[in-house]
Amino acid sequence: MNSEVKKQNAYLENLNWRYATKQFDPSKKVSKENLELLMESVRLSASSYGLQPYEIVVVEDLETRKKLKDAAYGQPQLIDSNYVFVFSNFRKIEEKHVEDYMQNISDTRNVSREDLKGMEDTIKNTINSLSQEQQQIWGAKQAYLALGNFLSAAANSRIDACPMEGFENEKFDEILHLKDKNLKSAVIACIGYRSEEDSLQYQEKVRKSKSEIFHII
Ligand SMILES: Cc1cc2nc3c(=O)[nH]c(=O)nc-3n(C[C@H](O)[C@H](O)[C@H](O)COP(=O)(O)O)c2cc1C
Repeated sequence: MNSEVKKQNAYLENLNWRYATKQFDPSKKVSKENLELLMESVRLSASSYGLQPYEIVVVEDLETRKKLKDAAYGQPQLIDSNYVFVFSNFRKIEEKHVEDYMQNISDTRNVSREDLKGMEDTIKNTINSLSQEQQQIWGAKQAYLALGNFLSAAANSRIDACPMEGFENEKFDEILHLKDKNLKSAVIACIGYRSEEDSLQYQEKVRKSKSEIFHII
C-alpha cells in the first residue's frame, strides 16, 4: 500500500498516529464518555466460544496507582496517565461460567436452554480437558485479544495508550485482591494523553516489511 493510500485511510492513519506512550501529560483528562467507549470496545471483543474468561479492573485511584507503579519497575505511565486497565484472566474456569453464558444466550436470543445443550456440553468438555495452567494460558490469550481491540479503539479516538507487560503479576494480584475474585493479571494498559515532551511520538514507526511477515500462497 503506498503512502498516499495510507494517508487517505483514517483508520490506518490513526494506527500510525498511535505509539506506546512513555510520557503522559497528567493535566489532560480522558472524558467519562471516552472511558465508556474504550470499555465498550473491550466488551465487544471476540473470544473463543464467546466465553469471555476475563475481567478488567480499571484503576483511577491515584494511591492505588502509586502502589502499582512500584510493582511495575517504577514506570511513570502508571501515575501520569489517567486510568490503568488491568486485563485479568480467570484463574479457574468453572462449569458455572459456562452455565451463566448459556443463560445469557438464552435470555438475549430467546432460545431454550435445551436447544443450547450441545454447545454447553462442548464448552464444558473443552474446559474440563484443560489443566488449570492451560485454562489460565487460554484465558490470557483471550484477554490479550481484548487488549488489541482496546488499543485500536483508543487510537481511533486519538486517546493515547501504553500496553505493558513490564510489571510483577503477583504483586498486582495482591494489591488489587485479584485472587479473591478468581482473577490473575495478564497484561495492563495505561490511557491518557501524551506529553509534548515525549520524544518517541516524533519518531518513525519501526515495523518489519510486508514481505517479511506475510506469506501469500
Ligand atoms: C504486550 C505488550 C507489552 C508491552 N510492555 C511494555 C512495557 O512494559 N513498557 C513500555 O513502555 N512499553 C511496553 N510495550 C510497548 C512496546 O514496546 C511497543 O508497542 C513496541 O515497541 C512498538 O512500538 P509502538 O507501539 O510505539 O508502535 C508493550 C507492548 C505490548 C504489545
